[in-house]
Amino acid sequence: MADGAQSDAVPFHYTDLGRTKPTREDDPFEYQAGFGNTFQSEVIPGTLPQGQNHPHVCRFNLYTEVLTSSAFAAPRHSNISSLLYRCRPSCAINGHVEVETKAGWRGSFLASDPKAPGAKPISSQAEWAPFELPTEKTDYIDGVRTLGGNGDAGLRDGIALHIYAINASMDRRAILNADGDCMIVAQLGHIVIQTEMGRLYLQPGELAVVQRGIKYRVALVDGHEHARGYIIELFGSRWELPTLGPLGCFGLANPRDFLAPVAYIDDKLDDDWLVFTKIHGSYSVHKQSHSPFDVAAWHGNCVPYKYDMTKFVAMGSLTVDHTDPSVMTILTAKSRDPDVPLADFLWFGPRWDVAQNTFRPPYFHRNAASEFLANIYSTTLSGRSSGFRPGGGSYEAGHIAHGGFAGPYLTEMKKMKNDPRIISSGSLTFMLESSRSLLFTEWGSSSCKYEATDPAVWESFPDRFSTNSSVRQLLDKVKEKNQAEKSANELFHDDGRIAALAK
Ligand SMILES: [Fe+2]
Repeated sequence: MADGAQSDAVPFHYTDLGRTKPTREDDPFEYQAGFGNTFQSEVIPGTLPQGQNHPHVCRFNLYTEVLTSSAFAAPRHSNISSLLYRCRPSCAINGHVEVETKAGWRGSFLASDPKAPGAKPISSQAEWAPFELPTEKTDYIDGVRTLGGNGDAGLRDGIALHIYAINASMDRRAILNADGDCMIVAQLGHIVIQTEMGRLYLQPGELAVVQRGIKYRVALVDGHEHARGYIIELFGSRWELPTLGPLGCFGLANPRDFLAPVAYIDDKLDDDWLVFTKIHGSYSVHKQSHSPFDVAAWHGNCVPYKYDMTKFVAMGSLTVDHTDPSVMTILTAKSRDPDVPLADFLWFGPRWDVAQNTFRPPYFHRNAASEFLANIYSTTLSGRSSGFRPGGGSYEAGHIAHGGFAGPYLTEMKKMKNDPRIISSGSLTFMLESSRSLLFTEWGSSSCKYEATDPAVWESFPDRFSTNSSVRQLLDKVKEKNQAEKSANELFHDDGRIAALAK
């Protein structure tokens, strides 16, 4: 599909599909359900060692390989690792090679870093038209470009926002991202993410997370000529489910709707492969004479997963007032400040809007967090000129003022009836919020429009307060009253007058 509005019927919610499986009809794979679980999987029953992790000799003479995503002695709740039982150890390689790529990953966003030219802040409203699709053969190795980010991969702190746009599958090429955990958000086209732990099928409306250090390969599904989407990379944090507080046990993104793969090995294991290790934003490439996807069994909690955003269980206001967008958080990532997240990933999909005696759309705001919004699909195009066209984006740094347009806002103000209604029908938009503003790459800042929306949509809000003649008279009355009160209060500070009262 091109980058216009979604033409296929899209569900209001996953349950509209009437599925008895946890995946959509076109997803051919099996999964294990749960968020943050310790899973296990094997291609042949009985392959995983029982009662221990490192047998003297593994079944089928597989090699044991440990993958840690946290310090060995990290507390239980943040101790993340997996054990892989594979045909060849990952260190069996045939040396490093130079490979020219068109990729544009960036791993550092330190304003004072002279080696990072083009790391530019954007202090006005910014919009991107749908990101261009490639015309020359481009796979995922070549087809990722960094829009912006904050922090630094080497410091293990910060995030990066990348765009992928591809028209080819990775052919015996794999990527190992040593910099951070990547959330891949599909916007156009169906892809298969083949990882060491198994395969994830991803289509618009779904997201996947591949943790740092896990090798993977991105392939186009037959019938899909292009794929495009967003990658949010965390340099030193990991995605977690938000706490639900008074909401209770269920709601928002439910844990069992996160799906992890089952073990899968390539049919042909002795091909020549190139493995691209991304470290500090650059590739280092080695060749090897065996598939990196040769894991016959694994167990652990360092496992990729996917989530279908049409399963999100929305919460909101049932009486009055607009609810803060934090109630739409799918996943959150901690920063080193316990009171603010590094990043929140929020959902804006079809939902009922039922509040009464209330102005329902978002209030004008200047939030502490920086916001990047992108529309995944939409049956009606509305909102900011390009920011809400599928496949583009829009951005406001923290404290940059924004809000509703004058026309729709004033129309909403005049509405006398607050009947329940469905909003965002046929549409899915995500918002990435970060407590730190982003610095944009040269490509990111040169490809966007600054203040692309006509300022008239805000400038035309009338001032009905200062132009109101009654308000003028009331202000004079308030002034008189304040002066009279002030004069009366002076008595308490005037010892001479107080003494006179006593006589
Ligand atoms: Fe906002």
